[in-house]
Amino acid sequence: MRKGLTVGSLIPGKSRTVASELPSHHDKTAPVAKTNDNPRMVRLKQRNQEHSIPFVPGATLLDAALQQKEALDYKCKQGHCGKCTVQVISGISLLGSPTEQERTKLGSKIAMGYRLACQTTFATPYNDKR
Ligand code: FES
Repeated sequence: MRKGLTVGSLIPGKSRTVASELPSHHDKTAPVAKTNDNPRMVRLKQRNQEHSIPFVPGATLLDAALQQKEALDYKCKQGHCGKCTVQVISGISLLGSPTEQERTKLGSKIAMGYRLACQTTFATPYNDKR
């Protein structure tokens, strides 16, 4: 019987670890990386759930999340209800400046990284005049 290749099996002196013993990306028990390895992602939290949203120039955070099947809560999509409030963990530099609706609804919480996902857009050279 022929043995299959394993991680490290081709490197002299490395231990033989079977690939099936390594944590899978689909393994819910595998530890989650806490660093933002992808500079084109925004990591955020909503009601104790973390989400990673890829950079989509000009799109709102909410629309980009929904395109990725990330289950963010929302209701009005107009900046009134606050149901889409998220806290940005990393990647805030990818986002445009807070809108008037965000300033009105969130006030000082903006300084702590809170944003309205339905109003926050990814920065483009044209929409961010910081
Ligand atoms: S969905 Fe209502 S404020 Fe964003």
